Amino acid sequence: MVLGETSALRQIPRRETEEIPNPVRIAVLISNKGTGTNLQAIIDAKEQGRLPQIEIGLVISDAPDAKGLERAKKHRLAYDIARFGKLAHRDEDSQELGFSLNLQRIGVVVMAGWSRILTRPYFETFEGATVNVHPGMLPNPDGSPFLFPDGTEAPWNKGLMTEKAVANFLGGKYAGSTVHVATIDADSGPVLERTLVEVLPDDSVDSLYDRMKREEWAALVRTLEEPEKIFEAAKSGNDSDG
Ligand code: GAR
Repeated sequence: MVLGETSALRQIPRRETEEIPNPVRIAVLISNKGTGTNLQAIIDAKEQGRLPQIEIGLVISDAPDAKGLERAKKHRLAYDIARFGKLAHRDEDSQELGFSLNLQRIGVVVMAGWSRILTRPYFETFEGATVNVHPGMLPNPDGSPFLFPDGTEAPWNKGLMTEKAVANFLGGKYAGSTVHVATIDADSGPVLERTLVEVLPDDSVDSLYDRMKREEWAALVRTLEEPEKIFEAAKSGNDSDG
């Protein structure tokens, strides 16, 4: 199978004039590094009627023991396990993931605790249509560090995941996450939403992460309320890593 054969299937609008499908079918990519709470936030918002613009088409985990898979099963969502091989096969695995999401007519992919680096063959299909939730502050569009309200430089936490990233905020005054359009460069790309929480003097990673997650859920749902903004941000090239 070659890319050209399947790329015509995709829901992603290719031109300014092309209509964004309504609802947009989304896929949520999860892993066993997280507990699937961002996925749950989407499910809850959907069930409360807050997200008529999207349909959860598929949940994909790279591991069979991801807690988010239980959530998908409980809510009768279609799910699949993507088997990733050795690093040397990353291009093939990335391509296969892109093909399979495309075949399932996915228009937007949400990485919610996804732990695999996806390479060019994936982005050939889903560039500009993949969103990532990251527990760190992506830089400003000019490449300068994002500054917290007290003027301190916010940790980007590029390449770090979950608790390891959150630990970097302890000792500072603020913490936050970014919802952004994912690009081939990990934890980089046009910013869609930022969250901000105060770090309390007696915070642990767990207590701080708990509050950060609540803000992440709200920011992710806000992003999915207006899926057209994802495509707009991607086209505008409001790239955070300059
Ligand atoms: C989220 O906090 C997200 O920011 C983080 O994984 C967590 C998944 O939590 N993403 C990364 O660390 C990516 N660098 P969840 O499984 O409870 O939704």
